[in-house]
Amino acid sequence: MEHTRIKELLKSEELGKEVVVKGWVKTFRNNQFIAINDGSSINNIQAVIDYENTPEHILKRITTGAAVRVKGQLVESLGKGQRVEVKASEVSILGDSDPEKYPLQPKKHSLEFLREIAHLRLRTTTFNAVFKVRNALAFAIHKFFQDRDFVYFHSPIITGSDAEGAGEMFRVTTLDLKNPPLTPEGEVDFKEDFFGRSTNLTVSGQLEGELAALAFGNIYTFGPTFRAENSNTTRHLAEFWMIEPEMAFYELEDNMDLAEDLLKYVIKYALDTCPEEIEFLKNRLLEEEKSKPKNERSELNLIEKLNFVLENKFERITYTEAIEILKKSKPNQKKQFKYLIEGWGADLQSEHERYLVEKHFKKPVIITDYPREIKSFYMKQNEVDENGRQTVRAMDILFPGIGEMVGGSQREENLDKLLARMAEVGIPEEEMQWFLDTRRFGSVPHSGFGVGFERLVLFTTGMTNIRDVIPFPRTPKNAEF
Ligand code: 4AD
Ligand code: MG
Repeated sequence: MEHTRIKELLKSEELGKEVVVKGWVKTFRNNQFIAINDGSSINNIQAVIDYENTPEHILKRITTGAAVRVKGQLVESLGKGQRVEVKASEVSILGDSDPEKYPLQPKKHSLEFLREIAHLRLRTTTFNAVFKVRNALAFAIHKFFQDRDFVYFHSPIITGSDAEGAGEMFRVTTLDLKNPPLTPEGEVDFKEDFFGRSTNLTVSGQLEGELAALAFGNIYTFGPTFRAENSNTTRHLAEFWMIEPEMAFYELEDNMDLAEDLLKYVIKYALDTCPEEIEFLKNRLLEEEKSKPKNERSELNLIEKLNFVLENKFERITYTEAIEILKKSKPNQKKQFKYLIEGWGADLQSEHERYLVEKHFKKPVIITDYPREIKSFYMKQNEVDENGRQTVRAMDILFPGIGEMVGGSQREENLDKLLARMAEVGIPEEEMQWFLDTRRFGSVPHSGFGVGFERLVLFTTGMTNIRDVIPFPRTPKNAEF
């Protein structure tokens, strides 16, 4: 390779050496100083050109966004903010960029504007930092599980099942919808979607993960999942990545321990391997918060917030305890919640979750044992209590500023109880024989959970909108490319 990556040059000790840099122009000042970035670092290298000896037709083409090759000597920099720079002896243009048309100018652009040019925002420092952290977290997830002898298991993307039973699926069909096959009632026969089956994009790899856990012991999936929910929030995507470990012989407590260890491990890994990116993101957030009133700014900066999570054990409470806290809370008493907590049984809204983690406990909270009626059919059922209430061995992990980061449970391993629950919620038994076989042949206690990967990236980068932590967000309004 003729050129050296900028990241290497910035820490190089070989002053005086002849080097070649290839990258994109960030700024060009005084016909003399080019800030060049090649994506390897959030920092640029400065090339100082001898403009008197650089032809006018080249000078004109050194514009923001243009790709350049600079050859020169690596020297100590006299300028502020950089240790080294390149004293250029040769500059050539590899790819022009028309300054009138290039949308990224050397100034601060709003995240909203950058979302509209998602194909170019990858070249900004903010998105370089965000996607480097995303990359580090993804690697750390594999490392965590591989070091613990979990098998990376590939669950299918096209499936006939609705793992969550929530009906939020994107249909996958081979039908000619202009001339579809019809049922005797005259409706489109989606049973013919995919050569005799109704099919959709997966909402979760869990059910297939359970099959694998009862074969390999410990497995994890890590791939894209899809939800056809029309929710335009800063926490929801139609296409998001999920990490779903599933473990045989794990009960709920083991499941919680693993989830807490995983989250702490991967956040620490990002802090250790992306210090410059996280420092940049911390400062970015501090800058952004300056526009907020003082009482709405966070008490901790990003790095303090991440370290706080590493240093504190997550609070563990039951749903019933959470309801008691919320009922007695000031916003509930003063009717400041949009949805008031009046009794036992309703699902927690995000305002309640945020109150628990941000105001009451001020740290991540694991809520367990939710009412059976508001959770998925596959969760292990607890005995009915003395008040006639029945809960399931569910766990949700809530994070400050994020809300639900993880959803999981111990699974119902008893065939009869599972069948009864499926019948109650209307899941056709005949379509789930493959899943039910796990409970027929060698059923054992087992547990698992799903981490929303983008919510993890959101927390670790301090970004505030989930559309800004995935390269090409799929939401009802963003599906162009
Ligand atoms: O709570 P959920 O729906 O749980 C499951 O899918 C289980 N099958 C997981 C399991 O036990 N194996 O989703 C898990 C997590 C949520 O806690 C949230 O972090 C994330 O996935 N998530 C979303 N992230 C972005 N956009 C969406 N629309 C999301 N829906 C869920
Ligand atoms: Mg959930």
